[in-house]
Amino acid sequence: MITTTDLTKVYRSRDREVTALDGVNLHVEQGEVYGVIGRSGAGKSSLIRCVNLLERPTSGTVSVAGQDLTALVTGTGARPPAALRRARAGIGMIFQHFNLLSSRDVQKNVELPLEILGHSGRERERKALELLDLVGLADKARAHPAQLSGGQKQRVGIARALAGDPKVLLSDEATSALDPETTRSVLQLLRDLNRQLGLTVLLITHEMDVVKTVCDSAALMREGRVVESGTVQRLLATPGSELAAELFPVGGTPTEAGTTVVDITFHGEAAGRPVVSHLARAYDIDVSILGAAMDTVGDRQIGRMRIELPGGREENALPLAHLREQGLTVELPGRGGDLTKEAAK
Ligand SMILES: Nc1ncnc2c1ncn2[C@@H]1O[C@H](COP(=O)(O)OP(=O)(O)O)[C@@H](O)[C@H]1O
Ligand SMILES: [Mg+2]
Repeated sequence: MITTTDLTKVYRSRDREVTALDGVNLHVEQGEVYGVIGRSGAGKSSLIRCVNLLERPTSGTVSVAGQDLTALVTGTGARPPAALRRARAGIGMIFQHFNLLSSRDVQKNVELPLEILGHSGRERERKALELLDLVGLADKARAHPAQLSGGQKQRVGIARALAGDPKVLLSDEATSALDPETTRSVLQLLRDLNRQLGLTVLLITHEMDVVKTVCDSAALMREGRVVESGTVQRLLATPGSELAAELFPVGGTPTEAGTTVVDITFHGEAAGRPVVSHLARAYDIDVSILGAAMDTVGDRQIGRMRIELPGGREENALPLAHLREQGLTVELPGRGGDLTKEAAK
């Protein structure tokens, strides 16, 4: 649905150049919620702004719904060509600070993109009220933005973004200004819209919780590059994945020297199996649990556990093989559980 190929963005000013995007290849499937995460300055906003051509890429291509948007940008005119305006109408966008017009009431804010698209007054009203109903604000049509809570403002932002019946919704830190409870309800709304309307959502966040709650896939950005990407399930099953480690940090330091520390990731039905007690019985060893985390990712149970086995790695070859045979992801972190993870193949 969204594909970027070797996308680069260099901001140039008189005395310096900033490479915000450095060869980004992103692929978002139709109907998925895709999260891009990374620290401030990683290039996330530049990426999303290049996806709808609010920002012109320095090189590379962006295609949305099979259409190469970069090919539509020609010349240097300030006004985008008609073909690009039409393509953009199929891409909704929501923002961290909502960007509502304070002088207009809620309904008129939602109608704004429809005015630009040249819809009649009656048609605009019908559509705006339908969308306000969809986002749970049917009774707020006449309110002004100043009278709304942050969560309600973002719901108006979402209704407005949906006015042009987009196939794609872009979200740049849309929940970063909201408290945790409101964040959850807005995310739930995005998830519902994704399912009900088949909307593809590309969202940017710096919060791992957001990825855990709503994303099917995720990419980690650093210094203008995508350093990891894939479905969340797949990332969690990838030994050494940074995203997986951040989604499920398992703490716990070994109790004594000369033992083997093992991080196990459980997926799906394996999450319900008594893996540890079985291991202890099968090999007659004492297994200590150093740390564990269980959560639901995209409706599926996922768990991580750090355990300690007596003896060195060589002595534990059989128990480790046993764990892998059960389809669990098995990693052997460095002593102290730091990030110098040694991927166990
Ligand atoms: N309009 C701009 N002009 C110059 N530099 C910019 C501009 N927008 C972003 N940058 C720079 O590009 C880099 C990436 O920024 P941004 O895409 O906003 O990252 P993020 O959203 O991940 O915080 C940063 O170093 C930032 O300072
Ligand atoms: Mg940003």
